Amino acid sequence: MNKAVILAGGQGKRMKAEMPKPLFRVLGEPMLEWVISACESAEVSDICVVKGYMGEMIDEYLAGRYTTVLQAERLGTGHAVQQAIPFLKNDESGNTLVLCGDAPFIDEKTIRDSLMLHTQNGNAVTVITAELDDPTGYGRIIRTEHGISGIVEHKDATPEQREIKEVNSGAYWFRTADLISLLGKLTNDNVQNEYYLTDTVGIALSEGKKAGAYKSDNANIIKGANDRHDLLELNNYARMEVIGKHLDNGVEFVCTDGVIIERSVEIGRGASILPGTILRGKTTIGEGSVIGPNSKAVDCIIGKNVVFDTAQAYQSEIADGANVGPFVHIRPDSRIGAETRIGDFVEVKNSTIGDKTAIAHLAYIGDSDIGKKVNIGAGTVTVNFDGVAKSRCVIGDCSFVGSNTSLIAPIRLGKGVYTAAGTTVTRDVPDYALAIDRGELKVNEGYTLRKMKSCKK
Ligand code: UD1
Ligand code: CA
Repeated sequence: MNKAVILAGGQGKRMKAEMPKPLFRVLGEPMLEWVISACESAEVSDICVVKGYMGEMIDEYLAGRYTTVLQAERLGTGHAVQQAIPFLKNDESGNTLVLCGDAPFIDEKTIRDSLMLHTQNGNAVTVITAELDDPTGYGRIIRTEHGISGIVEHKDATPEQREIKEVNSGAYWFRTADLISLLGKLTNDNVQNEYYLTDTVGIALSEGKKAGAYKSDNANIIKGANDRHDLLELNNYARMEVIGKHLDNGVEFVCTDGVIIERSVEIGRGASILPGTILRGKTTIGEGSVIGPNSKAVDCIIGKNVVFDTAQAYQSEIADGANVGPFVHIRPDSRIGAETRIGDFVEVKNSTIGDKTAIAHLAYIGDSDIGKKVNIGAGTVTVNFDGVAKSRCVIGDCSFVGSNTSLIAPIRLGKGVYTAAGTTVTRDVPDYALAIDRGELKVNEGYTLRKMKSCKK
């Protein structure tokens, strides 16, 4: 079976944060997650992550999804892979992919195509390479007429070798059994006194084994981040890649300023994404919806032809044709019905709102189940918390809740109930009833004239 070893021991001092480098996020996901998901989509799902600096954070992040091993001392990439030998020995029959956990853009196609070349040519090791305009710092691929003859690190390279633009991406396929034996032969006899994984190529060739290179035409597979500038660059690149895919699918963007869409988001054709929109997690947007400007949705299912303007929603569902915003906050576990209107300064939490209902302004709806074709007046508050427990409000279809109504939960309003403006509803109201708690209005004539001398005329 084929497997992968991902090197994730890096510290990233120049990031100026106490965190392993592979956990820095690109478009919301740790770089390590990008690498893992490339493996998974290429059906390489037996993975061992080599951790080092603050390795416990890697374990915490992975939460048992994959095996990890600790490289206690940073003695080079070869030494890092040596830590995974027990994992490799579990099954020596197949091939092993070695990847860097801080180069997020390795992709499924590169993994599959390089494996094909690797197995077809019967290589012990196949290096994945790319050409860079500026190869400074990378290991150079040395080629002869018979194929590659080795990899020379920048620091060990002669001025002539430094002219070579084809570099080692840091990703390789090895025949697992060969990798185990080659790892045992590494020395640290070089400028950096490190055990270089790259030396496996020269050693394999000297033993009469075959080594090759797969040159990718996507130089981005090499990109990593050494500092926050690089990380921003990776984010910008990933951001435009994702937007590019949505453009191909027929999504409209008139301006991409401030638009951040994570990889996992799905958007239907004909939808329009306006500036300042952030779409995260497992969010899906239906065809023809207009999202933004200045909106955020996290793990939401948004239907077709929805208007979602200057609004935020989390772990909620918004059905077809709903009109949400501006200035709306939809908190987790809510469902907004089809063609329902949620207007400005409305907060909804853990509530279901039926179809064709209107909550057009200034309301708090928490822990409630509201039916169809209900009208909720401005200033309505569901009083769902008594300081100890939360309770639900239920409002039947076609009810009309007057402005500034307080609904003291737990409470149930039947179908077609009216509440008068300003009413505090403290007990259940049956179908088709009016609830009104208004005291008699007193009008004290001439009051102001007696009080405020300046107003006398
Ligand atoms: C390595 C390659 C170089 C290649 C480059 C691509 C070697 C000797 N050189 O360079 O040819 O062009 O990657 O980026 O392999 N790591 C550990 N433990 C260590 C050392 C490194 O886990 O002791 C991890 C790093 O966290 C990183 C990866 O290995 O994920 C590569 O290490 P890095 O130091 O970035 O690369 P170089 O060794 O400079
Ligand atoms: Ca009142």
